[in-house]
Amino acid sequence: MIDLKGRHFLSTLDFSVEEIRSIVDLALRMKGDQTMGMLPGRVFGMIFFNPSVRTRVSSESAMARMGGHAIALHPGRDTWNFEHREGIVMDGNTQEHVKELAPVLSSMCDAVGIRKSELVTTGLSKAEVTTSYDDLKQDAFIHAFAKHSRKPVVNLESNSSHPLQGLADMAAMVEKLDGPPKGKKYVLTWAYHPKPLPVATPHSQLLAAADLGMDVTILRPDGWDLAPEMVEAARGRTESQGGSLTVTADQEAAYSGADVVCAKAWGSLDHYGRFDEESAAKDAIRADWTVDEAKMARTNDALFMHCLPVRRGIVVTDGVIDSRNSIVTTEAENRLWTVAALLQCLIAG
Ligand code: CP
Repeated sequence: MIDLKGRHFLSTLDFSVEEIRSIVDLALRMKGDQTMGMLPGRVFGMIFFNPSVRTRVSSESAMARMGGHAIALHPGRDTWNFEHREGIVMDGNTQEHVKELAPVLSSMCDAVGIRKSELVTTGLSKAEVTTSYDDLKQDAFIHAFAKHSRKPVVNLESNSSHPLQGLADMAAMVEKLDGPPKGKKYVLTWAYHPKPLPVATPHSQLLAAADLGMDVTILRPDGWDLAPEMVEAARGRTESQGGSLTVTADQEAAYSGADVVCAKAWGSLDHYGRFDEESAAKDAIRADWTVDEAKMARTNDALFMHCLPVRRGIVVTDGVIDSRNSIVTTEAENRLWTVAALLQCLIAG
């Protein structure tokens, strides 16, 4: 077993392919045995700047089942507002700096998870982003917290990545594909969404397929490329495993022979902070990008995946998501087993 004790889990790219695969393998062994490791008396603290169902419940459930405990904090609602910037005069809306927060929380918890994405909105209002993606992708708060934390810090979804989703997607594909994922065709398809969404989850889904050595196709309209550094990292990871990576706008070619179709909406990095421009462009192509029965009929009887939550009738038709090929609930269920395996590795070793 690879020793990951004490490490921060901020991106799967901070770990080797072998290390990531070992976490997924442990999760699937736990699921097969229906037994988790033990973390008695251990505490996982979580800071949620954004809403969550799966990430919060899977983490709390995993800790409870392992004999530990999880605490979820919601800044501005049940905590102080937190600051991370260096040298700041705190005469605004923030009351506590990570330089105190991180050592304090990590003295009371055995690991700390943070969800902080600037581009998450809860209503139908447009996301307000006042800075560029190049700034946001630094994930400054999480990295500042990790710098001052005495215990492992887990990325529960940031601007750049959602590595816990990546682990769960890997586990779902290993579990549900007919044979090893290596060499199978994985299509990550862009989907329409009324609001601009972060690129974090598709980045981690892309890396998940790459770490399995799949033949990865990123299917997106022109103008909706994922971050080039993530695409190139994924290319390197999958090629190291014998896989390949293609980027295309050709839906017919992409769906043809696919073994997995993973749908995800994401906002255009070309329009970051100027989403009115994106709205007009994407409204024009909205109907073309729904995953439907006709597209799935071109595939090699592909599995359908989505991280959830999903907008039915926009991202995917009822016929596809309700079909026997849909593994969206397995994918979500595996959030439990993968976070349990990860916390076991980071906290207990
Ligand atoms: N997929 C996912 O992270 O779900 P939540 O946003 O509900 O946690």
